[in-house]
Amino acid sequence: MTATDDRSLVVTDVCVNFAGIRALDGISFTAQSGQVHCVLGPNGAGKSTLFNIISGFYTATSGDVCYGGRSLRGMRAHRIARMGVARTFQNLELSGAESVLDNIQLGCYQDESPGVLRTCVGWPSSRRSERASRQRASEMAGLVGLTSVLSRPCGRLPYGVQKRVEIARALAARPGLLLLDEPVAGMTSDEVDAMAAVIREVHDATGVTVLLIEHDVDFALGLADEVTVLDFGKIIAGGTPREIRAHPAFIAAYLGTGPGEPVLAEPSVPEPTESEPTCSSLATSSTARLSGCLSASSQWGSFSFTARRT
Ligand SMILES: Nc1ncnc2c1ncn2[C@@H]1O[C@H](COP(=O)(O)OP(=O)(O)O)[C@@H](O)[C@H]1O
Ligand SMILES: [Mg+2]
Repeated sequence: MTATDDRSLVVTDVCVNFAGIRALDGISFTAQSGQVHCVLGPNGAGKSTLFNIISGFYTATSGDVCYGGRSLRGMRAHRIARMGVARTFQNLELSGAESVLDNIQLGCYQDESPGVLRTCVGWPSSRRSERASRQRASEMAGLVGLTSVLSRPCGRLPYGVQKRVEIARALAARPGLLLLDEPVAGMTSDEVDAMAAVIREVHDATGVTVLLIEHDVDFALGLADEVTVLDFGKIIAGGTPREIRAHPAFIAAYLGTGPGEPVLAEPSVPEPTESEPTCSSLATSSTARLSGCLSASSQWGSFSFTARRT
């Protein structure tokens, strides 16, 4: 692998304090080049803070983050973006009045710029550049299934579609690392399934390293190669989805089990039949198809899962 092929993210002993709150405490993990890595955790676990550190919106109190072998410590957000790190936000950050294509084209800012003066006078190179970024935006729209709505104003589109516009805009910048902050929060089950398919497609087509933060257990474990589980700013488990499902700390946090206790507090929810606890069986049968195994998470007091809309 050459240096430019290295799309790995290495987070080493990152701590973040906010006026007395330790939002992140000694976080270390590696998202391998070209893998889908998920950081899973409840609300308030520190997931968005981690993204803000990686993308340069916040500065860590201590610790380091390296992308492609280079430290990002002290770098401003625009420089980190130029190195190939792109992100989406937990809440939609689109211009609702502008078209899907215009919003995605905003992500092409990294492409060769002909300069303000040449753009103002309509210089041929500025027209070429405009055509190239239009073309790039249109290709990214196609990749996430938005070709039929290119000219529609974003604000009029369903929430799940707008989230795809954000992903396409991030991809337009040709990232090597794509940070997705809770891409399925507040979505219906159908929208969640569609988003999982989109992320797989994007990953397969581009080879981008994906760092996904989520609190939807089924979605995260179904998509990720590796998972890091956060709780109150600390890592409580790490490994493959299979290892995570069997991890005692994960089971205790998500299923709230202890010796002699029932697996679930909710009587209508069947117990897992396999020796390895699974969350999918819970989520499909529980009352509102909650995102994750909400009902029995007794130990994560601040856990506030978002119910999927049905
Ligand atoms: N800018 C900030 N100032 C003060 N506290 C913050 C700030 N951002 C996050 N926090 C606190 O840090 C903790 C982790 O928040 P966050 O990273 O948003 O969690 P998550 O994304 O997992 O829900 C919370 O207690 C939150 O209130
Ligand atoms: Mg968050």
